[in-house]
Amino acid sequence: MNNIVILTGAGISAESGLGTFRDAGGLWAQHRIEDVATPEGFARDPDLVHAFYNARRANAAGARPNAAHHALARLQREWRGSVTLITQNVDDLHEQGGSGDVMHMHGTLAGAVCGQCQHRWPAPQEMATDDTCPACHAPATRPDVVWFGEMPYDMDIIYDRLAMVDIFAAIGTSGQVYPAAGFVQEARRAGAHTVELNLESSGVGGLFDETRLGPASQSVPLWVTDLLSSQSTK
Ligand code: APR
Repeated sequence: MNNIVILTGAGISAESGLGTFRDAGGLWAQHRIEDVATPEGFARDPDLVHAFYNARRANAAGARPNAAHHALARLQREWRGSVTLITQNVDDLHEQGGSGDVMHMHGTLAGAVCGQCQHRWPAPQEMATDDTCPACHAPATRPDVVWFGEMPYDMDIIYDRLAMVDIFAAIGTSGQVYPAAGFVQEARRAGAHTVELNLESSGVGGLFDETRLGPASQSVPLWVTDLLSSQSTK
């Protein structure tokens, strides 16, 4: 029971003041996905997309990790086994909370990438349409985030880890977007114990062995304490 895989979503950052996507008043109630989170939307109106991500980058810059982020970093430090932390989030609150080796399957607000040559560099606080790539000088810079219709990052590694997982936890995600929403199925196929930590049961909630309802800042530290005390009795 040594390999843990954790998937986090926007809900783990909600108590740090960052909006979620599908809760009431969430980001997808304020913006159309096809306008700000697709390659077609970016091609149609790059200024709108840069403004969307510039605002999220500014919001994230003022956010601080909460007890859930800190608890996962503690688990990574103290668990006698492997802990794979996969996040759908593009903020850096896991890193700020002390986590290393965070797999950002949807990219990060902190990154910029060239649509022409794929060069990557740290994104400035404000990106603009007339920015040029520092490597090839093409006017084709975009936020290094994964849009709908694009392949998430690190999928090979993720599926390798899920094939050997003993405990799979999904924290603060609505289970609406694949491939992440399908990770629980992969974990069940590997024979893992699966746990969902959320305010309410998600779109794939019925597939989990265990559900821990409540705000992540309370449920995640409790879950980590239970895990660590279970290993010390072995
Ligand atoms: N504690 C725990 N869970 C919470 C909290 C909280 N304080 N607040 C909200 N949640 C839960 C909600 O109940 C919901 O299940 O977090 C989840 C947020 O769901 P979404 O807004 O859909 O966010 P997420 O699941 O991360 O979205 C996945 O969709 O649009 C894409 O790329 C985007 O990465 C994102 C992906």
